[in-house]
Amino acid sequence: MDVSVKELLQAGAALTDKALERLLPSPDTPPHSIHRAMRHSTFAGGKRLRPILCREAARMVAEGALPEAVEDLGAALEMIHTYSLIHDDLPALDNDDLRRGQPTCHVVFGEATAILAGDALQTLAFQTLGGIDCPAPALVAILQELTGSIATGVGADLPGGLPPGMIGGQVMDLESEKTRPTAELVERIHRAKTGALFTASVVTGGLLARGLVQSEPGHSRPAEHDTIARLRIFGEKAGLAFQIVDDVLDRTQDSAQLGKTAGKDTATDKATWPAVYGIETSVQHAQALIDDAFAALAPFGEAAEPLKALALSLTARTS
Ligand code: IPE
Ligand code: IPE
Ligand code: MG
Ligand code: MG
Ligand code: MG
Repeated sequence: MDVSVKELLQAGAALTDKALERLLPSPDTPPHSIHRAMRHSTFAGGKRLRPILCREAARMVAEGALPEAVEDLGAALEMIHTYSLIHDDLPALDNDDLRRGQPTCHVVFGEATAILAGDALQTLAFQTLGGIDCPAPALVAILQELTGSIATGVGADLPGGLPPGMIGGQVMDLESEKTRPTAELVERIHRAKTGALFTASVVTGGLLARGLVQSEPGHSRPAEHDTIARLRIFGEKAGLAFQIVDDVLDRTQDSAQLGKTAGKDTATDKATWPAVYGIETSVQHAQALIDDAFAALAPFGEAAEPLKALALSLTARTS
């Protein structure tokens, strides 16, 4: 991996950990069990990709000046992601006992506490967002984006309705087990269960930065209407590539490398990209999607380099 991407990932993860440490209740806060469970899963060693993407999107839109609120926004995204992982691992969903190299939340704390720890992380995420320093219209836009990306696809059958988000995707993922997956179904699942929150991470970073830039007294920068649309395309393409690579790694890596149970998707007949296309074509599709993601950022020139480097590292990863 290129040294500068490695540094970007390490520095971004350290900043995310610092914000999470500040925002999560201490392990000595009663009731102890739930706060310890929330911290167990949050600090088990995730890559922190969503906060890092959010920060770099904000940096690109703010032309280098990073809004302070991006730390809390990134931490909120990571709380939501961690909640989704705790619930994804539950016996009723994927039934996994290894996550981020540690025993899963329900294995250590029991199922009831794990369910509640997921709920509590999601609640804390929105409590955190309620307090960020950002103009109200931008905050409303951030909340709409983020809630839509987690939801089930409210109004998806109506004009202007939202496509399914993470929970909708998880439902389709579970319902597709043991069925023969089609290309269309796998794409729908992946865009929803993973792509939606991934996209929201990039888009909300852009919304935050744009809101702050526009609230500067006498700001003279143009509204740049297509900035958010371009970030959205970037997020959708890179997010889909990310889940394709996740599916490939499940087949090609071992559990120690992944920090989660390898070979699980095949064992449970999940609807995955390699199940439809095979490994080689899946890798090619992921690479082509990253090229499309790059193209969406072309008008930003040099300023898009960090986001592009991050996207490229997503396909080259081994965990
Ligand atoms: C794992 O996400 C779940 C998916 C959506 C594929 P990550 O690979 O980002 O997991 P962590 O946060 O690094 O553990
Ligand atoms: C993850 O999908 C999607 C989530 C919303 C968490 P997976 O079930 O493939 O994620 P892993 O492989 O367990 O991390
Ligand atoms: Mg799953
Ligand atoms: Mg899983
Ligand atoms: Mg997976």
